[in-house]
Amino acid sequence: EWTMANFAQEEIQKVKELVGDKKVLCALSGGVDSSVASVLVHKAIGDNLHCIFVDHGLLRKDEGDQVEKIFKERFHMNFIRVNAQERFLNKLKGVSDPETKRKIIGEEFIRVFEEEAQKLEGIDYLLQGTIYPDVIESGTKDAAVIKSHHNVGGLPEDLGFELIEPLRDLFKDEVRAVGEEIGIPKDLVWRQPFPGPGLAIRIMGEITQEKLDILKEADFVFRDEIKKSGLDQEIWQYFAVLPGNRSVGVMGDERTYDYTIGLRAVTSTDGMTSDWARIPHDVLERISTRIVNEVSHVNRIVYDVTSKPPSTIEWE
Ligand code: XMP
Repeated sequence: EWTMANFAQEEIQKVKELVGDKKVLCALSGGVDSSVASVLVHKAIGDNLHCIFVDHGLLRKDEGDQVEKIFKERFHMNFIRVNAQERFLNKLKGVSDPETKRKIIGEEFIRVFEEEAQKLEGIDYLLQGTIYPDVIESGTKDAAVIKSHHNVGGLPEDLGFELIEPLRDLFKDEVRAVGEEIGIPKDLVWRQPFPGPGLAIRIMGEITQEKLDILKEADFVFRDEIKKSGLDQEIWQYFAVLPGNRSVGVMGDERTYDYTIGLRAVTSTDGMTSDWARIPHDVLERISTRIVNEVSHVNRIVYDVTSKPPSTIEWE
């Protein structure tokens, strides 16, 4: 019988037999696919799985700590966190073109990962969270574009390890079901899509620590209110962006000249097309009031009411 429980058990058994007591390396991003793949393989081979988590500093508020906590404290995995925030920020200094940002982040990610992997000895296999849609995509003529878009956390195939891809035949829904089956927290299994280059493509223009801090706080408030309102069940993706412009406002008797925050929330089934989410006005009002009150250097909030096409979901 084809159930996710059976799939998980069989896959665990297969990995056990294939790997024996050899060592497996994994780039763990905290996303759904790499998380499910690594917990599955961890159940098969335990400490012979070594996970490297590259924190590029472009994750959402507290996300790096949350990822570390789940895999270290809950699953007791061999988990190496590389705090590479400064490295990435330095590489991105002065860069404002979106595709260049993606390229720099993708390349730096591989460099950091390789450096870390070299410190480990006797690795034979590389675990990848490839799922069925990735397999199909890489066979299309748009593969190059999709790759530049989605390849952060993806690795070149010539690292010299044999690949293990336990989720290769599964669709996203099935991956989530397996994830729940093997005890991964619902929050993680059902988390909204988050781009590999992270907040780098949600800050228009040059990325600075100040802008990152502002965006993280604003995005946190937005997500918190969406969750509290229960709308997170209906919305495909919801996040804040920092367009980088400043505009005039008043605060008490003072004139301010501060940043604008853009709110993006869309409904979609696959991310290929989307509609803007009809968030009730009272929820928008709460979000706006909270962000302006809680996040310094923000004096204006706008809501994005464009669908895809002609827009994209992300702003870059
Ligand atoms: P767009 O903005 O093209 O996004 O409508 C479609 C979906 O893809 C995600 N996205 C990315 N994911 N790296 C990723 O891993 C990227 O560079 C990237 N750009 C967009 C986006 O969040 C949405 O789910």
